[in-house]
Amino acid sequence: MGRYSFSYSLVITTIFLCGCTLQTKVESLPLSTNGRWIVNENGKRVKLACVNWVSHSETILAEGLNKKPLDDISKTIKDLGFNCVRLTWPILLATNDSLASITIRDHFHSLGLNQTVIDIQKINPSILDLSLIKAFQGVVKSLGEKEVMVILDNHVSHPQWCCANNDGNGFFGDKYFDPDLWIKGLSIMADLFKGVSNVVGMSLRNELRGPKQNVPDWYRYMQKGAEAVHAANPNVLVILSGLSFDNDLAFINNHPVTLSFKGKLVFELHWYSFSDGNIWTSMNPNQACGQITRNVMRKAGFLLDKGWPLFVSEFGVDLRGTKVDEHRYLNCFMALASGLDFDWALWTLVGSYYLREGVVELNEYYGILNSDWSHIRNQAFLQKISAIQLPFQGPDSPDVEHNKVIFHPLTGLCVLRKSHFGPLSLGPCSNSDGWEYTPQNTLSIKGTHFCLQAQREGKPAKLRKKCSNFNSKWELISDSKLQLSSKIRYNSSVCLDIDSNNIIVTNACKCVSIDNTCDPGSQWFKLVDTTKS
Ligand SMILES: *[C@@H]1O[C@H](CO)[C@@H](O)[C@H](O)[C@H]1NC(C)=O
Ligand SMILES: *[C@@H]1O[C@H](CO)[C@@H](O)[C@H](O)[C@H]1NC(C)=O
Ligand SMILES: *[C@@H]1O[C@H](CO)[C@@H](O)[C@H](O)[C@H]1NC(C)=O
Repeated sequence: MGRYSFSYSLVITTIFLCGCTLQTKVESLPLSTNGRWIVNENGKRVKLACVNWVSHSETILAEGLNKKPLDDISKTIKDLGFNCVRLTWPILLATNDSLASITIRDHFHSLGLNQTVIDIQKINPSILDLSLIKAFQGVVKSLGEKEVMVILDNHVSHPQWCCANNDGNGFFGDKYFDPDLWIKGLSIMADLFKGVSNVVGMSLRNELRGPKQNVPDWYRYMQKGAEAVHAANPNVLVILSGLSFDNDLAFINNHPVTLSFKGKLVFELHWYSFSDGNIWTSMNPNQACGQITRNVMRKAGFLLDKGWPLFVSEFGVDLRGTKVDEHRYLNCFMALASGLDFDWALWTLVGSYYLREGVVELNEYYGILNSDWSHIRNQAFLQKISAIQLPFQGPDSPDVEHNKVIFHPLTGLCVLRKSHFGPLSLGPCSNSDGWEYTPQNTLSIKGTHFCLQAQREGKPAKLRKKCSNFNSKWELISDSKLQLSSKIRYNSSVCLDIDSNNIIVTNACKCVSIDNTCDPGSQWFKLVDTTKS
């Protein structure tokens, strides 16, 4: 988590968007990389759609075991459509044997969490007298039994909430961050989970940062750490965080990472609304999204073009859903996430913490679960991100067919035709036809003569067969390049939009002036590449 601290019902529509990997069976592991894609043993793409589960703070126990049985939490993660967990841990859990062997009961008592002990006794009695390290292994095992993959994320050295510039855990040489101890801890952890097939990757260190950060030391230690992990456990992906709270990997552009092994290297990026100051409220949303998208591409997105997988291992919003900046950020995030089809991990699963920054049972508003871990905090949000849980694309080959879908970031749905001549509406992307965006700027359904046509302002757009008129030409306009604009008369432009029933209509284009109070979200559409084999 970034620098500023702060009976489940199922909503997942099963999406069979492309012929790519849908379910990752543990037996098709380990994972490796093929260009920018993470693939399984059979060469099929596996898209990491993970959720972060905190186990690195003072308590050193995966959160929530005072609220729900471990196996129920694991099952819920799977049922919500996540195929993996980014499980956070502190170096001392691996390197300090006297700490690692303390029981949960004694450890929680020593933190004054006596009521939590009583609750864990009730809900997860078999955990309470396990040592900290055995409990950690137990969490990984429970996830494996539900076919949930695990990325072990070294979040901090000293167990504590993360991350601030001066918390002693930010960069090599900081108070708690001894590089040799770190490498030792990584090796021990990699070795401990050798042969545990659902552990598919290790994030070497979360959010490098602070006054000591510098590029030469980044290469020096990250390459060493990567070699150490690979030597101890050659099966796992080795995942490297950038500088400045993992907002910046631009330096890789001039200086590739040099490793003795191939096919395991992945980069990770963190991207929150607060990663970019107050830009989401101070700037026009189209301009802000355009500018931030260019930043993200320059700082990390370029890695995909260079043939490296990019794992956006933290993003998320306050799920009370009331903040304007986060609403704009999330729509922009969804557009880029669908377009680039990168791997990702949501911050966070956790509905509340045992103890965070001195507060017992702190409510986590970014948590997908509510404070007592019994319900989904925000169904609409989960529905929205379910659209990016499954892959749009996979590795190319001669028999792969390329299409597009017209994705609507605000809803996480796609433009669908219900009948030949009736209006179009939003629905699951899995049901989408393959669209083509032609050099003549028409949007047509592949294998048909039908193209999308604007009719009148406030009226549904329709499929028609005459595609040469100006009302069949669609341009991507505004700084965001997310508004599809056509003309209904020689001199009058409209933008694709949705009405209150999710019917596809055209309206006056929103937010194209420099106004920063407007919200163009309903008019944002992303033409997303898909592949099908
Ligand atoms: C190891 O853990 C024990 C028990 O918590 C603690 O007393 C000791 O100070 C720790 N040692 C180091 C080097 O952190
Ligand atoms: C918490 O439990 C421990 C161990 O049973 C006990 O020694 C301690 O007095 C308890 N603390 C409180 C505040 O009840
Ligand atoms: C198009 O609209 C502009 C601005 O409203 C106007 O000045 C111009 O005369 C119009 N041109 C035609 C051909 O209608």
